[in-house]
Amino acid sequence: MRTTETEGSARPRATAPALSRRPWLEHWLSTVSDLSELKASHPMMDAVIDEVDGRMIRIGDRWLADFASCNYLGFDLDREILESIPAFLEDWGTHPSWSRLLGSPVLYEEIEDRLTGLLGSEDSLVLPTITHIHMSVIPLLAASGTIFLDSRAHKTIYDGCQIAKARGAAVRRFRFEDPDHLDQLLSQERDPTRLVCMDGVNSMTGNAPDLVAFAEVARRHGALLYVDDAHGFGVIGERSPGESCPYGARGNGIVRHAGESYENIVLVGGFSKAYSSLLAFIACPSDVKDLLKVAAPPYLYSGPSPVASLATVLSGFGVNEKRGDALRSNLWRLSDRVLTALRRLGVETPNRSGLPIIEVPLRDHGRIDAVGRFLFDRGVYVTLAAYPLVPKDEVGFRIQLTALNTDDEVDTLIAALEELTAGEELRLREQELEEAA
Ligand SMILES: Cc1ncc(COP(=O)(O)O)c(C=O)c1O
Repeated sequence: MRTTETEGSARPRATAPALSRRPWLEHWLSTVSDLSELKASHPMMDAVIDEVDGRMIRIGDRWLADFASCNYLGFDLDREILESIPAFLEDWGTHPSWSRLLGSPVLYEEIEDRLTGLLGSEDSLVLPTITHIHMSVIPLLAASGTIFLDSRAHKTIYDGCQIAKARGAAVRRFRFEDPDHLDQLLSQERDPTRLVCMDGVNSMTGNAPDLVAFAEVARRHGALLYVDDAHGFGVIGERSPGESCPYGARGNGIVRHAGESYENIVLVGGFSKAYSSLLAFIACPSDVKDLLKVAAPPYLYSGPSPVASLATVLSGFGVNEKRGDALRSNLWRLSDRVLTALRRLGVETPNRSGLPIIEVPLRDHGRIDAVGRFLFDRGVYVTLAAYPLVPKDEVGFRIQLTALNTDDEVDTLIAALEELTAGEELRLREQELEEAA
């Protein structure tokens, strides 16, 4: 039998300090109260996944179709990649525990060479995560100049800019998807050191920015364009007459997809989404790479990625060359099935691109808890986009497709979307609303 520590003793029970004695904690809890209430009570938040079988996941005794995975190409369960890992572990052990400045297994050289070839950039450097890159590289590139920040950029870019600001940079925001506004701000700016920071494929809308227009504005004003393509790398790539789907070929990212050169563009991307591995990169000129090797703290101090991650990136390159375009073609087809269903139902989504990130806003942000539970009950697992992760008028859920989802799973999802539409939970496209009025 469990006993409490105060039983049979006069010693007062040791309890957690009262919240009232920790005003900083109360302040933050009230700021994120919508999210923390959901996290505490909702089966689709902070969940413990007990088992996976393809893209079916088990939480307790419930099996659900997973539409929250960023493993876009299905490399997490690819047999060829899985079976390649033990040989790397035999050769290198589980983890190279040098910082990269001290020494890197030759696997790093091989990864950077192959990556540079795939991207068609001058050079590239890999570090554990994109977050590490933003925090260390943005302040270096901005120095004490001015950063022009996409107002809807990913939180990790924002945080990198905050560090730059603390080190003397100024930060000005331009409107999302608006190169003319960026042009205006750059025209008014007298600071000669200019860095433009923005997302590639946006993690909420699923759309790519007009990179050609942004690159033209940045070059005309002598600004360096820094683009985070976490969700585009591995999914979109160079256009070619023989491409198997509108995502383009080879998954070599937004710069190649837009037919742009790397002149004045620094591309950041990661392997933690499409390649199902823990590694990230910056594609940049060789002199910038040399600078980062002595000035970027993650190169100097951070622990490197585990060998299994280096292995899965290298094997992933091979699978990408052999089967990547077929996987992307299937990913496009599955995404198109969901987008076609939403169009048929008249349901709004910001996705105009056909990419596998499909946000579905709710009519009433207060219904997020109930809608999430409904989806869970129907066996559909999605990312809940609750306030303050997104503004209140964008509260909803995000569907992500991967090449491993099956048509049966997509059928289950579409049936649930039909029920939610009939229950008037989802926001309708304006045209549909006008017709109903
Ligand atoms: C656009 C974007 N940038 C950066 C990150 C963080 O990437 P990493 O896990 O490599 O730090 C994410 C992850 O969600 C993202 O969506």
